[in-house]
Amino acid sequence: SHENVQPYMTSDQDSFAYTSACRRWPIIITQAIDAVFRSIPGTADEKTKTNEGRKIIEELARLKYEVQHNRALTPLLDDGLPDIPHYNNALQALGDPKWLDVSWLFAECYLYRRIATYFRSSTKWTDYDVFLGSKLTTLRSSLPAILELAHRYPAITTPSTFTDEASSLLFHEIFMICLWGNATDLSLLTTLSYDDIQSLQGSHARKESEKNILANDLDEIYKLLTSLKESKADNVRVDIVLDNSGFELFVDLYLAGYLLSQGLASHIVLHPKSHPWFVSDVLPSDFSSLLNALQDPENFFVTQNDLNEKKDKMEKKDTDAISELFLSLAQFHAEGKLTIRPSPYWTLQDPFWTLAKEENQDVWNDLKESDLVIYKGDLNYRKLTGDAAWNPTTPFEVALGPIGKGSGCRTLALRTCKADVVVGLPEGTDERLRKEDPDNTDQPQRRKWAWSGKYAVVQFCDGKE
Ligand code: F6P
Ligand code: MG
Repeated sequence: SHENVQPYMTSDQDSFAYTSACRRWPIIITQAIDAVFRSIPGTADEKTKTNEGRKIIEELARLKYEVQHNRALTPLLDDGLPDIPHYNNALQALGDPKWLDVSWLFAECYLYRRIATYFRSSTKWTDYDVFLGSKLTTLRSSLPAILELAHRYPAITTPSTFTDEASSLLFHEIFMICLWGNATDLSLLTTLSYDDIQSLQGSHARKESEKNILANDLDEIYKLLTSLKESKADNVRVDIVLDNSGFELFVDLYLAGYLLSQGLASHIVLHPKSHPWFVSDVLPSDFSSLLNALQDPENFFVTQNDLNEKKDKMEKKDTDAISELFLSLAQFHAEGKLTIRPSPYWTLQDPFWTLAKEENQDVWNDLKESDLVIYKGDLNYRKLTGDAAWNPTTPFEVALGPIGKGSGCRTLALRTCKADVVVGLPEGTDERLRKEDPDNTDQPQRRKWAWSGKYAVVQFCDGKE
């Protein structure tokens, strides 16, 4: 059960935890240092901001040193926010672990929360998003895929009957778009090129990828949402626990627009993060910037674009397509049908097993009001399953522990695999991929096939049954 399964540890050299701690984190911290360095004003009248910026750089550099030299994780600086004791108590309970001998999930959340304390406890950098630059650059580089989808928006929002094969095919395709949008998060950019990203986003890639979905409960979601449309038509709430901004948020909103237009949902609630998180995760400000970009695409994608492949102008048919999509989303937002609801819960280190605890009842009671909660991405999946070394054939509902069967909440995970944990696989699948996937064959003792976002799982547990 969830009580006696072991979390992945950064000390496990065969897990992606170890590679993450040794290779990815120092690079990510270095990128943060560069970003702050470039944002330091350096003018005399902004002395405080300059001095604070220099101090933040020193703190980031020290953090990088501590990670690279396997020092102990130190208590978080109190930045005045209420989750600090929650982190520090957990750290103490772990016995002041070192960077290379600590649970992966805990250490990685701690890393981003610690970075956030540097900015939160300043006076001039409190809302500074250290990863904003890379988020915007990748959003710009996603323009081809955004255009492809924007041109199809009128067709996918034309009401379907949901009695024919075509309706079902479209439903499945929209969810597949939303699923694979997760393949391109920025924390993996340390290993993916922009070309890789663009090729992951096109329609051709999506078709190719279908065989890489190792467990797929989407038919059940089709049955659920079409039957709810019949039984409680005007009162169906769907929640999305967001993952990454940029292209992934775009496809999340695309899914939202589809569900609302088709009457499969009457209200969509989006759950973002409250601090810059795992590089590319959505902050409330990313939601606004994406809508602004769609409102004035020429300005965002062309005028402000400093990429090499910069074009001079967008074609009118393209700006029209994006505008139409923007107007639809903006209207849903204005009508209160598409809302964004932050909570500090999403930036705790906790597995989602703790959602059902007394102290988290605000979030949990809210989620139980929903008809379906969709968890996007890898980190959310790690939290749903406790990031633990489950046998990969363990049923999904078992790995959910207290938020599984009978919990009162319906959970759908849309996850491309970027970490070791995986459950709900058919017997033999993990063994086969270890032997057959070209990325895995050199070290079959590792589950390397699961690290790169090439495979995915779509898993559902009906906790309201
Ligand atoms: O596996 C690499 C990694 O950065 C993990 O640290 C993290 O769980 C995940 O990818 C982030 O991916 P996502 O944005 O899909 O949650
Ligand atoms: Mg993410």
